[in-house]
Amino acid sequence: MSEPCVLVGVTGCIAAYKSCEVVRGLQKAGVRCKVVMTEHACEFVGPTTFRALTHEPVAVGLFDDASDPIHHVSLAQECDAFLIAPCTANVAAKIACGIADDLLTTTALATTSPLLIAPAMNVHMYEAAATQENLARLRGRGVRVIEAGEGYLACGDVGRGRLADVDVIVGATLDALREARATGATGGCEGAEPPACAAVGESAAPGASASAGPAASGAPARDLAGLRVMVTAGPTVEPLDAVRYLSNYSSGKMGYALAAAAAARGAQVTLVSGPVALEAPAGVDVIRVKTAREMLDAARAPFAGADIAVFTAAVADFRPARPADRKLKKGADDAALRAVELVENPDVLATLAREKRADQRVVGFAAETDDVLGNARRKLASKHADLVVANEVGEGRAFGTDDNKVWLVDAAGTRELPLMSKAALADAVLDAIVGLR
Ligand code: CTP
Repeated sequence: MSEPCVLVGVTGCIAAYKSCEVVRGLQKAGVRCKVVMTEHACEFVGPTTFRALTHEPVAVGLFDDASDPIHHVSLAQECDAFLIAPCTANVAAKIACGIADDLLTTTALATTSPLLIAPAMNVHMYEAAATQENLARLRGRGVRVIEAGEGYLACGDVGRGRLADVDVIVGATLDALREARATGATGGCEGAEPPACAAVGESAAPGASASAGPAASGAPARDLAGLRVMVTAGPTVEPLDAVRYLSNYSSGKMGYALAAAAAARGAQVTLVSGPVALEAPAGVDVIRVKTAREMLDAARAPFAGADIAVFTAAVADFRPARPADRKLKKGADDAALRAVELVENPDVLATLAREKRADQRVVGFAAETDDVLGNARRKLASKHADLVVANEVGEGRAFGTDDNKVWLVDAAGTRELPLMSKAALADAVLDAIVGLR
């Protein structure tokens, strides 16, 4: 069997020099490497360096190889995995949007084998809602995002944005090769044998850290592997007549981000979702419902099998008692419209958590306009939750936004988190749940 082949993409970032070490690490583990660079990357490291390391031509321009007019397709087809390290905010954004305006991004779009990106950038660029959204979107599509580490950055700032350690990147790539082989998802060298972890990678492979989430380890943690997670998300809609309903402004973004993050961390995830305009995260089973009662029914089985259940849904507390099966008309139905009677919906979280097993961990959200912490603490008890994520809602806050500011409330006390993207918050909440176990 031939050796596996990894295409290493290098983008314009000060950390580009570390790509040389990544290539060496992969080679030591028995992987053949080819390199594709953006033009900006060439400002930091010359293609000659990679040509010398790999003994392969280095691809930069879309039309550089006169012998191969569709170079992006052949590069994509030849590799068993495509690793972009370092990956700038710009290239992550382009890939998230499907923009293909140079050889590297065009190849990324044409690649059917596993795609891994190791972002590296300034802390503010990394934490920007746009970047976090792009990374979450990529994770949701199955792209492995090798989380940036924390520390001193080349620009002088201190924070998250450093390229992950070389051995973490190599370990994640070897893992992807092994998994692709197991599922037959490689695009390149037919029958290529992924190497047993050699030299680098073994100790740093994702999942090596059983307790730390991505934020703590700098690695794409697989700390939820083998666990089953259920998430409720979105609003519920409660029909009033054939064309009208009662609902709320929930976008579902928080629940979808949690489901995507849990799946990326190895969990088997079921998402019970009210009507939202979001794509199902990759690898997540989605059960779509409309009303609160449907949500409760749909959540029973996944809850029973779940190790962790997170209730982010903004369930309508009341529903019209007698929805009309036709459109109620102005004039003729004025009396009925003015006298709409509401009846209470079941509380999905409280109903299910009342019966929770000792080994299950249950997380609720508390959306409050007043006395956020007092109400959150009351909900922790009344809903039988192990953790409540409390946030202020109202004009421009939480509902529909891409970031959120929350407090984590559990039996041990209250912890305030800074304003962060919902994708980053999803990981922070999962870290807190892992800490509860
Ligand atoms: N919840 C639920 N079913 C309901 C109401 C709420 O599962 N019928 C869950 C939510 O998913 C959330 C938590 O309970 O995890 C708190 O929801 P929230 O809307 O903040 O509180 P309510 O229970 O609706 O109470 P109130 O309206 O008094 O704030």
